[in-house]
Parts: sequence; structure tokens; C-alpha cells
Amino acid sequence: MTTTTTAPPGTAAPAAGVELSDTNQHYDLPAEVFGLFLDPLRKYSSGLYLSKGDTLEQAQLNKLRFVAGRLQLGGGQRVLDVGCGWGSLTLFVADELGCEVVGVSPAGNQHAYIAGRAAELGLADRVSTVRGHFETVDLGERATGGFDAVTMLGSIVHMPDLDVVFRRARALLRRGGRLYVSESCFRNAAARAAFDAREGTQFVRSAIFGWGDMRPLSDLVRAAEDAGFSIASVDDLTDDYRRTIDDWLVNVDAATDELDAIRPGTAATLRRYLEVANAGWGYTTKHYALVCRRAR
Ligand SMILES: C[S@@+](CC[C@H](N)C(=O)[O-])C[C@H]1O[C@@H](n2cnc3c(N)ncnc32)[C@H](O)[C@@H]1O
Repeated sequence: MTTTTTAPPGTAAPAAGVELSDTNQHYDLPAEVFGLFLDPLRKYSSGLYLSKGDTLEQAQLNKLRFVAGRLQLGGGQRVLDVGCGWGSLTLFVADELGCEVVGVSPAGNQHAYIAGRAAELGLADRVSTVRGHFETVDLGERATGGFDAVTMLGSIVHMPDLDVVFRRARALLRRGGRLYVSESCFRNAAARAAFDAREGTQFVRSAIFGWGDMRPLSDLVRAAEDAGFSIASVDDLTDDYRRTIDDWLVNVDAATDELDAIRPGTAATLRRYLEVANAGWGYTTKHYALVCRRAR
């Protein structure tokens, strides 16, 4: 979702009275909806198009390798995947790199889906998930500062208090561990002030996600630094998200009948959300990958 998903452009602070548990009805849609327009791994965030001919599937694999590289995962590390979606990154780093991965998400359907895929792939001993919101979820013995890496692909937009999020992420990491965040952002504070209340933004916020808060990158950097992180890198993935969403739109058009058979009107709602998301790239919105290091 960033607003794009990874967060699509279109998220704001939760309305008064909105509880965390009330949010993100979008991710509680039947898992088959996402199987009809995402790539085979159901990665719901930007891909990385390394060549003109890259398909959506290739771009998402490129992106998973990019994330692993930015986190310097060489194999066997402990990873916390916050906002794990349908498990694309969780399962990828467990399978390809032998990592031990814990996924976190408030969306109930996603846990059963990931457990099924982990069993099919023979990864059940390395993959587990916890249902809840990152800010408050009980991670039990795992909350010991023993993670080598924490990832947030398209999920921080759904978390209202950046200071709580970055502080908790830092506390969960070992010294030298890394946090990877990719998120859609307003291009700057002025763009946020001008567009946050616009009709398209409000549609994405209320009709799709329930709520969310897309910020400028500077807000994320400020909160990361205040939490004690050292910024290791920033990559601009704006054009990649535009292309990813173009590919999703092609899939939505091709699967309109199946989507509407699951729930009437699903295809039109998805199309509008994705078109709103793609309208702002480079002008009002950007998509960044931010890597932070717990230096001490
Ligand atoms: C756009 S999806 C991205 C999923 C996944 N990271 C990917 O790239 O495919 C956002 C995810 O964040 C999760 N989410 C929303 N609010 C959250 C919170 N407070 N804590 C943890 N996860 C959250 C949603 O349930 C969903 O799984």
C-alpha cells in the first residue's frame, strides 16, 4: 500500500476512534483475489525491473534478491518479516538462504496461506508467523534482540506511530543488524499537504485500506535516526513501482470475470485503486527502499 503497497498513495492517520484491529480490511479479502493479479509468489509490493523485457514474475524475484542483498543475508540468519503478506519474502529467504523467519501480520487469511506453502516447500521448521500488529504483538521469547534483520515491505504505511515502530525494530535487532523498509512516500511535505485530503487519496484510504499514513521519506529518516539507527542506503524505486502496478492492472483486466465472481465489483475497485496509485509517481509520490543499521 503504499498506496502502493506497497502502499498505494492514499493513506492517512487513523480517524478518531479507529482501533488498530479495525484496519486493513483489504488484506482480509479471500487469498484467491490476490492470486488472480499478483505474481505467483503473491508479492504485494514493488518489483525491480532490471531489463526492459522483465516480466512481473522476474521483477519480483529480482526484488527479493535485492532485499536479501541490501540486508547482507548470506544464509542462516534470523529474520523478522513485518507485514509478511502472503509470505513471498518470508518463504524466499527461508528456502533460498536457509534463514529462520518469523512473519507478522494482523490479517488472518495470510497465516493459513503461509503455513500451507511452508509445509508444501518443506520449510515448516524454519518459518513461523505471528498474528497481530507489529507495534503491540507479543513475540514471546523471540523478542530478545536476536534478529539479524527486520523487513517491512509496504507495511509501515499502516502503522500510525513511526517512533514506536523504529524503536521496536531496533530493540529486536542484534548489534550490526539491519532494517529494510520499502514504502511509498509523498514527494515532500508540501505534496502531502496538497494531496492527502484529495478524493483519490481518500478513496484508497477508506475503500481499500481502512486507513494508513503515507509520509515523506524525511519523516521515516527522522524517526529511524531518533531511534538510534544509522542510515545505510536509500534507493529510488519509483519507476519500478509504476511498472509493477501497470503489470497488476493488465492482470486485473484479464481476470475481471473471476474477480467479480469472488465478490461483485472487485475488479473495478482494484482498478481504481491501482490507477490512483499510478497517477502520482514522480509528481506527488515516490517509492523508496531505506536500509537502516543498528550500529550500536
Ligand atoms: C502491502 S502488504 C505487503 C505484504 C508483503 N510485505 C509483500 O511485500 O508482499 C502490507 C502488509 O502489512 C500488513 N500490516 C498492516 N498493518 C500492520 C501492522 N500494524 N503490523 C504488521 N503488519 C501489518 C498487512 O496485513 C499486509 O500483510
